[in-house]
Amino acid sequence: MQSTIKHTAKATHSGQQTDIWFDDSERNGLYKTIFNRRDVRGQFKPGPVPDEVLSRVLYAAHHAPSVGFMQPWNFLVVADQQKKQQVHDLFTTAHNEAAEMFPEEKRDTYRSLKLEGILESPLNICITCDRDSAGPTVIGRTHIKTMDQYSSVCAVQNLWLAARAEGLGVGWVSILDQRKLQDLLNIPRKIIPIAYLCIGYVDHFYDKPELETAGWLPRQPLEQLVHFDSWQNTRSAEEDSLIEQINRDRDFPEQF
Ligand SMILES: Cc1cc2nc3c(=O)[nH]c(=O)nc-3n(C[C@H](O)[C@H](O)[C@H](O)COP(=O)(O)O)c2cc1C
Repeated sequence: MQSTIKHTAKATHSGQQTDIWFDDSERNGLYKTIFNRRDVRGQFKPGPVPDEVLSRVLYAAHHAPSVGFMQPWNFLVVADQQKKQQVHDLFTTAHNEAAEMFPEEKRDTYRSLKLEGILESPLNICITCDRDSAGPTVIGRTHIKTMDQYSSVCAVQNLWLAARAEGLGVGWVSILDQRKLQDLLNIPRKIIPIAYLCIGYVDHFYDKPELETAGWLPRQPLEQLVHFDSWQNTRSAEEDSLIEQINRDRDFPEQF
């Protein structure tokens, strides 16, 4: 129904979005989605994701921005339990290798963290980047070659937020050997697997990032991440009204 309304508005306004505004509740809906999105690993319910829901979420991903509008993504949907088991095996190998890379005092904590929900989630989706999807020279990718991969990451984030708004959990699994994943999913070498995502309905979403709750890392104070005119030039609330405002808004995310 929504799309019919939008098409009517567009048709009567020569392609301009003059009728598209967000009232307070719609705007708050977006913030609510952003501040309540979580990486989900352990709370997946086995029930299926209806095609009509998945289709909407994939459309959200497909409408992400992309450098030169190259849309370098593909969405490889993995529902076969045997295939998921094989990806899980890849994860287990990489996870064991990863544990050895941390300082000894952190290894036990690392091993105790649940970092994937490959088998528990009903669906996995691998979002890829086809670097050749728009020819060799792409508007905007002429000087920073990785811009195409960043575009696929934008699709991931769109999918992640749309999924949260649909009540679906998403977990990103990056502890995988990329080449072995390509082989397993028959992805050609030139196509980059950007994100391997676990998707499904969940028992619950956590309030905070699990890594924060586990004491792995805290959320950084926003005011220390804002620099002015030059790298590392931070300002105090007394020196700058934006920092003062950021400090005043410290509880903004909690309102949602
Ligand atoms: C590029 C990227 C890769 C990630 N890889 C993993 C992963 O392999 N396993 C995992 O459990 N979480 C992974 N995450 C999720 C992060 O740990 C999570 O986003 C972060 O701890 C903040 O928590 P939140 O997403 O619940 O807010 C990844 C997130 C991003 C953006």
